[in-house]
Amino acid sequence: MSDQPVQVVILAAGQGKRMHSNLPKVLHPVAGKALAQHVIDTARTLAPQKLIVVYGHGGDVVRSTLAEGDISWAEQAQQLGTGHAVAQAVPQFSDAPCTLVLYGDVPLTSAATLNRLLHAGRDALAILTVDLADPAGYGRIVRDGAGSVRRIVEEKDASADEKAIREINTGIMAIPTARLVDWLGRLKNDNAQGEYYLTDIVALAVAEGLPVRTAQPDAEWEVLGVNSKVQLAELERIHQRNVADRLLVAGVRLADPARIDVRGTLTHGRDVAIDVGCVFEGDVELGDAVEIGPYCVLRNVKVGAGTRIAAFCHFEEAVIGPDGVLGPYARLRPGAELGPEVHIGNFVEVKKSVIGAQSKANHLAYIGDAEIGQRVNVGAGTITCNYDGANKWKTVIEDDVFIGSDTQLVAPVTVGRGATLGAGTTLTKDAPPEALTVSRAKQVTIRGWDRPKKVKK
Ligand code: UD1
Ligand code: CA
Repeated sequence: MSDQPVQVVILAAGQGKRMHSNLPKVLHPVAGKALAQHVIDTARTLAPQKLIVVYGHGGDVVRSTLAEGDISWAEQAQQLGTGHAVAQAVPQFSDAPCTLVLYGDVPLTSAATLNRLLHAGRDALAILTVDLADPAGYGRIVRDGAGSVRRIVEEKDASADEKAIREINTGIMAIPTARLVDWLGRLKNDNAQGEYYLTDIVALAVAEGLPVRTAQPDAEWEVLGVNSKVQLAELERIHQRNVADRLLVAGVRLADPARIDVRGTLTHGRDVAIDVGCVFEGDVELGDAVEIGPYCVLRNVKVGAGTRIAAFCHFEEAVIGPDGVLGPYARLRPGAELGPEVHIGNFVEVKKSVIGAQSKANHLAYIGDAEIGQRVNVGAGTITCNYDGANKWKTVIEDDVFIGSDTQLVAPVTVGRGATLGAGTTLTKDAPPEALTVSRAKQVTIRGWDRPKKVKK
């Protein structure tokens, strides 16, 4: 919560020509989430009375992608400057005394920084500024001899002396709402770019004797914006490095903090170890002492304590029990639910199936729409034929079953407790418990059989 009730205006009308993309700029992803969605999510932590997004280019896609009940939309059909953009939001204004202006293409500003700015903005106009080694392109903060802010001058309107100023306007401001509405009505576009500059409100505030204060972010990357794929990639790496550092600090062992990507939420227990090149998407939960080998992708997966996952696994919407042994090259698809100490080996695919404790499928198998009991051994090359071309059917394999290699289970079919299926069986009827079922033709040997010979022409 901020000091005083606040409303947020997010400027997202820019086209982003330098992205060279059909996707509106603010929808390009950092950590799998649209730039503007990062800004919206952070803004929500301030519990704003109103959350207004000013959109323009690609309006329909922007609205439908970011749509959420608490967002008010303001269209800026023509991009006539940041002041003009904020003016489009005025009809939507609430009676919150403070208006926070954010940019939809500046995704990584922290809530702590915004709270500091809002604190500075109590009964004042507050600007988030940073000192840059190379301030080129930004609006400069012009101060008087006493150090008070007098105005902001844009690069294109700046004198040589002003261009030497290294303190720049990040564009993020906390503004007294009542004064803002009046100031917006007084902006002129008689400047180098012929735009209505939001930054001109600073001189108006000074002229009225309203205090103008500044606040600084904890880190420079918090105020970096995206105008190109180069900058998008830079921010992605900064964000991922921050996530990796948080994991390290919390006790996760990362083989290389520069080679992990988290696109969502990764929660973990103690003594978790993650090798290089892993990607985590959505909500992933890793129990104590989980070990993940190199180049695994886990999306919306829960992994029980002590489970070891070898290289090159791909898991999606799955629940894995404790002390499992998985991979390399294992694939779990939506609805895979593995009990404790289950082994899933190379080139085994599991979909919408429950597998009981201590069961194993170690090589080359497809298990789909199945219910497998405990201590079952699924031989190499086993396939549940779950699809008849029109419908999906279920395979039930009870406890302590042994399924020989290269078996096809044509669903719907049930294998009774303790049954054994001979290798190469094509099972089309239920197999009774505690017996050997085998469907192969009987093996015969033909002695003195001659192999075909090449015919002379
Ligand atoms: C603006 C500031 C400048 C500051 C810089 C920080 C003004 C006049 N200048 O520069 O002092 O250093 O940001 O990056 O405010 N936008 C709209 N509609 C418009 C114009 C812009 O929605 O008509 C949005 C853009 O999509 C972007 C943001 O406002 O998200 C800033 O616009 P941009 O053109 O990048 O910044 P400048 O005007 O160059
Ligand atoms: Ca501009």
